[in-house]
Amino acid sequence: MNETISDGSSADETPEREGVRIVDSADVAPTAVIGEGSAIWHLAQVREDARLGRDCIVGRGAYIGSGVEMGDGCKVQNYALVYEPARLAAGVFVGPAVVFTNDHFPRAVNGDLSPKSAHDWEPVGVTCEQGASIGARAVCIAPVTIGAWAMVAAGATVTRDVPPHALVAGVPARRIAWVGRAGRPLEPASDGTDAWVCPETGEWYVEDRMTGGLALAQDAAAQRQYADAPLAAAGETQDPGQPQQDDTTDGATA
Ligand SMILES: CC(C)(COP(=O)(O)OP(=O)(O)OC[C@H]1O[C@@H](n2cnc3c(N)ncnc32)[C@H](O)[C@@H]1OP(=O)(O)O)[C@@H](O)C(=O)NCCC(=O)NCCS
Repeated sequence: MNETISDGSSADETPEREGVRIVDSADVAPTAVIGEGSAIWHLAQVREDARLGRDCIVGRGAYIGSGVEMGDGCKVQNYALVYEPARLAAGVFVGPAVVFTNDHFPRAVNGDLSPKSAHDWEPVGVTCEQGASIGARAVCIAPVTIGAWAMVAAGATVTRDVPPHALVAGVPARRIAWVGRAGRPLEPASDGTDAWVCPETGEWYVEDRMTGGLALAQDAAAQRQYADAPLAAAGETQDPGQPQQDDTTDGATA
């Protein structure tokens, strides 16, 4: 995209936003920084000092709180509520009507029924590491971290950190599988190791003791041999060798 459209603020306040698409009904604070190639759709609100990377999409009616940080290529779907101080690394998908909370013990008023001000509570945020996906209408209760390439099922309520590549579902969310970077559930490797294999890409994943999740195997030879095999037969007929468990990381932390 290569057009600059007014964000509805007065001409004096509105910064030039080269290569950004902001539709007229969107409400984007003048101090929000929006990366080139990004699009902000109808009735979405992006608050003061939010920082969005390149090629981000903020869908209809979505809310991006003050100072929220989003890396390149994030997609926030319609009516999702990303309350500050959420932090999204690159490539994070936030499904429709998702809620990232920011107040663990919310109250509208103090004990004497006087209104709570911004100083009367401590905001806590949701952190999403790169490539993570949050399914439709999921609720993530801050403070919580969704690990790299993890996936939260539609309708889940996340109350604990989610390790990289975990697929969690339910209320409260529990791990039901592992997923690869393509988003597909992984299958156990057929070589007798603890490795996992993506049925779509053939990528191998191994346990990452640092995070409690999985990480992409770095054993290039194993990857190459597996990738060369026809996918339908891969894992059944090929012996890709032993991934090097002590030397593996996908470098996927935020
Ligand atoms: C979680 C998800 C990825 C699982 O997909 P899948 O691997 O094809 O899983 P299946 O449909 O085979 O279900 C596997 C099990 O998980 C359960 N399950 C699936 N989705 C679930 C969900 N959202 N919440 C709770 N349980 C779920 C199934 O009931 C099934 O349980 P069972 O083995 O006891 O019968 C998928 O259901 C999902 O929620 N995707 C997110 C969709 C979304 O929100 N997209 C956003 C853009 S519209």
